[in-house]
Amino acid sequence: MSTEVFCDIKVEPYYENTERSIRLFCGNCLELLPRFPRGSIDMIFADPPYFLSNGGITCHAGKMVSVNKGKWDVSRGVEENHKFNLAWLSECQEILSENGVIWVSGTAHVIFSVGFAMQQLGFKILNDIVWFKPNASPNLSCRYFTHSTETIIWAAKNANSRHTFNYELMKQLSNGKQMRNLWEITPPQPKEKSRGKHPTQKPLKLLERILLASTKEDDVILDPFNGSGSTGVAALRLDRKYIGIDISQEYLDLTVNRLQDELSTP
Ligand SMILES: C[S@@+](CC[C@H](N)C(=O)[O-])C[C@H]1O[C@@H](n2cnc3c(N)ncnc32)[C@H](O)[C@@H]1O
Repeated sequence: MSTEVFCDIKVEPYYENTERSIRLFCGNCLELLPRFPRGSIDMIFADPPYFLSNGGITCHAGKMVSVNKGKWDVSRGVEENHKFNLAWLSECQEILSENGVIWVSGTAHVIFSVGFAMQQLGFKILNDIVWFKPNASPNLSCRYFTHSTETIIWAAKNANSRHTFNYELMKQLSNGKQMRNLWEITPPQPKEKSRGKHPTQKPLKLLERILLASTKEDDVILDPFNGSGSTGVAALRLDRKYIGIDISQEYLDLTVNRLQDELSTP
């Protein structure tokens, strides 16, 4: 993959490190994604709004806390939420390379809409990964099962794509057995949150596995909902190029700090 993609977008990056090919952009991904060259991205990881910030309560570290993540996570109603998912997924499909893949994570609030939108757009669904969180918080109401999983859909650009799957490496990481679609990974370690908190930060171990499974060194990785930058930190660790987009400056600042920590780690 050439580095042209880093030069072609006519928007000032919020942060860039040309030596390590990292770019962060501040803005609405619906406006920024159409500016990237068609077919220029090898892999996308997206963790879109869950649309669950409805004023409910949950349990965190043994305490009753609000479920609200931020204004960006407020539901606009089922139909508007689905239109939003169709819009950003369609832009992602345009900028993926012929053999490019996308991974999208979500809870039940959003993942069915994401899966349906992918089917409507003609993505080829490769796997649904069940991410199991062994130390999930208890359910306070005692009226539901404890939520302890998220789904991650892995899909190729279309039916003709010949996606990368580093099968042998995944088998090696799975003690010599074919890796299953049930991944047990604990939420981010306190060390990963030392630069500040993001309400839905993904663990580095999860992103590292995703990158190792489906990309090669120097591939261009994009995350349209960058958040705390876990995808970028994993990309940096594994020598992949990275483009992150987030609407929040505060989260991009957190990302810059995390990237700088990583860059200064011997
Ligand atoms: C679920 S979080 C992503 C968390 C991220 N995966 C991490 O590990 O930290 C979604 C992020 O998308 C951002 N966001 C919401 N709507 C957006 C939009 N239209 N364009 C760009 N970013 C958006 C929010 O600010 C939030 O940080």
